[in-house]
Amino acid sequence: MRGDARVVAVVGATGIVGQEILSVLAERQFPVADVRAMASGESEGNRVAFGARQLRVVAVNQDELRGAHLVFFAADTGVSRRFASATAAAGAAVIDLSGCFMDDADRRLVTAAGGPAVPLAAVLGPIAAAAGLRRVCVATYEPASGIGRAGVSEMSGQAIDLLHGRGVEAAAFTRQIGFNCIPAVGALDAEGHSESERLLATALRRVLDRPALAVIATAVRVPVFFGLGVAAAVETERPLAAGEARRILREAPGILLSDDEAGAYTTPVEAVGTDAVHVGRVRSDPSVPAELCLWAAIDNVRKGAALNAVEIAEIALREWD
Ligand SMILES: NC(=O)c1ccc[n+]([C@@H]2O[C@H](COP(=O)([O-])OP(=O)(O)OC[C@H]3O[C@@H](n4cnc5c(N)ncnc54)[C@H](OP(=O)(O)O)[C@@H]3O)[C@@H](O)[C@H]2O)c1
Repeated sequence: MRGDARVVAVVGATGIVGQEILSVLAERQFPVADVRAMASGESEGNRVAFGARQLRVVAVNQDELRGAHLVFFAADTGVSRRFASATAAAGAAVIDLSGCFMDDADRRLVTAAGGPAVPLAAVLGPIAAAAGLRRVCVATYEPASGIGRAGVSEMSGQAIDLLHGRGVEAAAFTRQIGFNCIPAVGALDAEGHSESERLLATALRRVLDRPALAVIATAVRVPVFFGLGVAAAVETERPLAAGEARRILREAPGILLSDDEAGAYTTPVEAVGTDAVHVGRVRSDPSVPAELCLWAAIDNVRKGAALNAVEIAEIALREWD
């Protein structure tokens, strides 16, 4: 065992994101002394992969979490609310993916903001450094897997029913997702903004450290299983030519410019399985003096959740030692 090896727990280990966290930890050879896979009581005794090993799943409870150095919460807000604060208070570094502690400042309990905010910030950061940033108008095209296994299974079931001429009923989503688009991701507030839109604006301002940044988002659930797309119109303080923006983005860390030519792009499905933010269709808006339009695609599960969480954990453990 290496001296820096940790006892790591993944809560929600049987879910789409939890399984990807285990894959990323194994791929990066994260130094683990022990890995504990936890989920609901219904999964007790099931197995999940950790590299070449199979881990036995246990039902999450405070006893199983005791002694862990690092705990990922990738279940739901209820589970995070029940266990995460106590786990952090017991001394573990906690990375929460549910978003429910977004406004809490606890040094040992870190929110790994999921979804498009961190990838979009990776694109906007270098643009802002070059030309300033005034306003971002963004539309997100969010896949069925964004709500986990229930979303994937509802969309595949509806696709089969619709192709057989049968009617469908929405359960996990608010409306039919098979061969349809739903312009509301999460609950709508009194002003008509959805939960996903609010989270994106809050997380984007925080990650870019621009509390006053003007952001308006429209989040749309689309009938895609995995992979997320973003269309952004970015108003800068000084004009930035599309060619210059492409040059800047080509050199930016974590960004893969789809092509040097205007018009090239990567689709969400093509981004799945990759660690990059794929940027394409970088072009000037002829109707506004200092505005660039662009498209970005990411793997929502890997880049948008698991990889981000593991990278935050690596930084947190380095800083807290
Ligand atoms: N999917 C995405 O694109 C994405 C992106 C960013 C952030 N996130 C966040 O990541 C988290 C997990 O999402 P997911 O997509 O992986 O969902 P998922 O596929 O539905 O998996 C949910 C996981 O939570 C576990 N769970 C549910 N109820 C539980 C309980 N009462 N006690 C213990 N474990 C329980 C499930 O265990 P069982 O198998 O036993 O039911 C499963 O392991 C959520 O907070 C989500 O908001 C997701």
